[in-house]
Amino acid sequence: MLSVDFLGFKLRNPLMLTEGPLSGTKELLERAANFRIGLIFTKGIRPKPAHSPVPYIRKYERSLINADWSCIGLDEWLDTIENLRLEIPVVTSIAKNYVTPDVAVEMAEKLVKAGSKIVSFVDYNPSELVKTVSIARPRLKVPIMVKLPPFLGELEKLLKALVKAGVDAIAAMDSIGPVLSIDIETGEPVMGSEDGSGYLSGRYILPVTLKYIYEISRFTNLPVVGVGGVTDYKSALQMIMAGATGVGMVSEPLLKGLKVFDKVEKDMEEYLVARGIDDIGKLKGLTHRRVAAREVSVSLKAFIDIELCNGCDFCRRVCYSLAIEKTGSVYTVKSDLCVGCGLCESVCPVDAISFR
Ligand SMILES: Cc1cc2nc3c(=O)[nH]c(=O)nc-3n(C[C@H](O)[C@H](O)[C@H](O)COP(=O)(O)O)c2cc1C
Repeated sequence: MLSVDFLGFKLRNPLMLTEGPLSGTKELLERAANFRIGLIFTKGIRPKPAHSPVPYIRKYERSLINADWSCIGLDEWLDTIENLRLEIPVVTSIAKNYVTPDVAVEMAEKLVKAGSKIVSFVDYNPSELVKTVSIARPRLKVPIMVKLPPFLGELEKLLKALVKAGVDAIAAMDSIGPVLSIDIETGEPVMGSEDGSGYLSGRYILPVTLKYIYEISRFTNLPVVGVGGVTDYKSALQMIMAGATGVGMVSEPLLKGLKVFDKVEKDMEEYLVARGIDDIGKLKGLTHRRVAAREVSVSLKAFIDIELCNGCDFCRRVCYSLAIEKTGSVYTVKSDLCVGCGLCESVCPVDAISFR
């Protein structure tokens, strides 16, 4: 029901642990493999070992900011890949941004020789990714992926260039940045990086990623991994409906533990069973089909079901067009004032508001 085909591998589910501290060493990969994860990406591989200035991971409200460029280095990664015996497929992810395309491809060749079955290149500069894939394609016999930075400009052109270069799958997206957070007691940035900047990931970035995945899957039939802001089965399903084949997570398992994968798998399964859906693949790209069939309206008005209303007053407080009236304990909508913006419906805790 949840299994998906991805680059020649049958995955137990679409959930993926993408690049980050939880997949940074052999021991950590082995630990991750005990959880219900379909596929694992290694932490970004650099030519030499590197340490990030501390602190480099901070909780930011319900998300994270990181400035984490740590790596055990290529030599130790080669050793790790050579000796790794996991049932879950592992993608070796090369931090392309630190090296030239030629060096990145040489690193990939070494990793494939050590046993890597899928290689991914990550760079905040998309044109570097195109160059790298075109050099790598004739030299690597394994599937090649790229991970895109947050980037919407000229997306169609970029995807065409990547397909022409020979890419097999796309992951999107990297954390968003640079961003800054400041300690108001000292005025200092909270991150330890030289200029104090970092990159935002986790819950807050979900809507950005969803739109990105939706757009990417409009322009290409390649398998897409949606990563950025997934925290539960609802966000994972949204990613699939937007067009993703795989769904990555890093921040949420960092904050809550790898068991979130088990929970998301279980909750997704329950969602499918409750709706009589026998294959998660049937939800892939659903939003594209819904949008194509959509009729837009400017004339819907809010309606409050007084049987369901609990009198919390949230709707009246947010109604900027002053359309919600309270008479005694009863809330009603003045149709002539309601502009149908939808805010009241989205804050109602008991689903008492609908649009008619
Ligand atoms: C602490 C931390 C370290 C990360 N390291 C890498 C990395 O080495 N290479 C990479 O491509 N992405 C890295 N990422 C980005 C994640 O793989 C992912 O794209 C991003 O965090 C969005 O997913 P999330 O919202 O589920 O965290 C890192 C993210 C975090 C939070």
